[in-house]
Amino acid sequence: MNMFNKLVKKETKLSVIGLGYVGLPIALEFAKQIKVVGFDIKPERIDLMKKGIDPSKELTSDAFKSADIVFTSDPSELKSASFHIIAVPTPTTKNNLPDLTPVLKASETVGRILKKGDYVVYESTVYPGCTEDDCIPVLERYSELKCGKDFKVGFSPERINPGDINHTLTKIVKVTSGCDAESAENIAKIYELIIKAGVHRASSIKVAESAKIIENTQRDINIAFMNELSIIFNRLGVNTYEVLEAAGTKWNFLKFYPGLVGGHCIGVDPYYLSFKAKALGYHPQMIDSGRFVNDSMGGYIGKQTVKKIIACGKNLKGCRVLIMGITFKEDVTDIRNSKVMDIVNELKDFGISVDVIDPGAGKHEVKEEYQIDLKDKPSGKYDAVILAVSHKEYLKLDESYFTPLLNKDGLVVDVKGVLRGKIKNNPYWSL
Ligand SMILES: NC(=O)c1ccc[n+]([C@@H]2O[C@H](COP(=O)([O-])OP(=O)(O)OC[C@H]3O[C@@H](n4cnc5c(N)ncnc54)[C@H](O)[C@@H]3O)[C@@H](O)[C@H]2O)c1
Repeated sequence: MNMFNKLVKKETKLSVIGLGYVGLPIALEFAKQIKVVGFDIKPERIDLMKKGIDPSKELTSDAFKSADIVFTSDPSELKSASFHIIAVPTPTTKNNLPDLTPVLKASETVGRILKKGDYVVYESTVYPGCTEDDCIPVLERYSELKCGKDFKVGFSPERINPGDINHTLTKIVKVTSGCDAESAENIAKIYELIIKAGVHRASSIKVAESAKIIENTQRDINIAFMNELSIIFNRLGVNTYEVLEAAGTKWNFLKFYPGLVGGHCIGVDPYYLSFKAKALGYHPQMIDSGRFVNDSMGGYIGKQTVKKIIACGKNLKGCRVLIMGITFKEDVTDIRNSKVMDIVNELKDFGISVDVIDPGAGKHEVKEEYQIDLKDKPSGKYDAVILAVSHKEYLKLDESYFTPLLNKDGLVVDVKGVLRGKIKNNPYWSL
């Protein structure tokens, strides 16, 4: 009996290794139809999931109802499964090189329990070639089995967009692939169980890996172009958003906007592709330039704020700035790799005192990650307020909110251009 039939007849289980933003929704979706083991190395996260709580705060308790799933941090429980999905983080090192430690550790965990006939599918975003060149050798070493002959491997990248309530897991076409024709078909059919939007069968693992990495690299490069334009238009004294609005009336003008690029996908994945390109002897110019521009934007916004504060006739000594939003993008609670911290650090370098507020970020997480105390609310008067993240709570604000927070000639900095046309009496600057 093939893998698809065994899973559907509940003669074996599917396991998900790494239950974060990607892994938990997949595990719970499969658990509506087949038997699932959800494994994570963090027992404290497993304890929450056993109580129907998503530690990443994306899913409600309803998502856990009637799910046929066992949550565990005991790797031996993975033995009862035959189809393993690996969804662990793929971060970069301090020097912006791929850090494969979690994905190789997870491969080791699975390798130790792998049986003849099992499948392993990687969902973590990696550079093209990583599954075959880096992960399969670890599976083979720890299982003492041979890929292709004894077990099968596939790659199926995840495309969810944090904070996006419209494009959710089952509504996004899923790219699937396998190490041979039989496994590719089985993997596609298994994902078709849960993906209502359907499955795109990529011709190979490398094609599927490449497709994922260029989706995010394309976004990164397009946003970098907008950021560069905003630097030019700032020198010209022209509002970037007004230019984009005018240019956007042409049918084929692409709708991208300037801003901070943080988080663990768009700001990270191009480094994986760049690493692979260099390993192949090609030094990518566009990809690296895009990364350089986007990684510089926090510092640029900080410096522009300082210049404008001085231009307002203020002395930087004793200056106070409020930053609204610390998460890596709007309407999420995730603060990892937030580029807002580059603004904070730039301002602090000038001796400015900075308060940060955010409607969703956790105080504890912010302290642990960035060693700063998140404030519950603004306190006292500020010389500038920077609206750094366009959370939905902030979109309804107008000048009547900012004026009482500001000293005379206090500046409003609008990183995402969401206050355009609303600030009439205070100095105003946006990207
Ligand atoms: N978050 C997104 O929206 C998103 C979208 C598309 C793709 N991705 C990619 O998916 C992958 C996972 O990202 P995420 O956002 O879900 O990460 P995450 O940090 O939210 O979750 C990862 C989970 O894996 C666990 N983990 C780490 N090492 C482990 C190991 N060796 N064994 C078992 N569990 C382990 C962690 O404890 C954590 O619970 C990454 O490659 C990411 O680039 C993420």
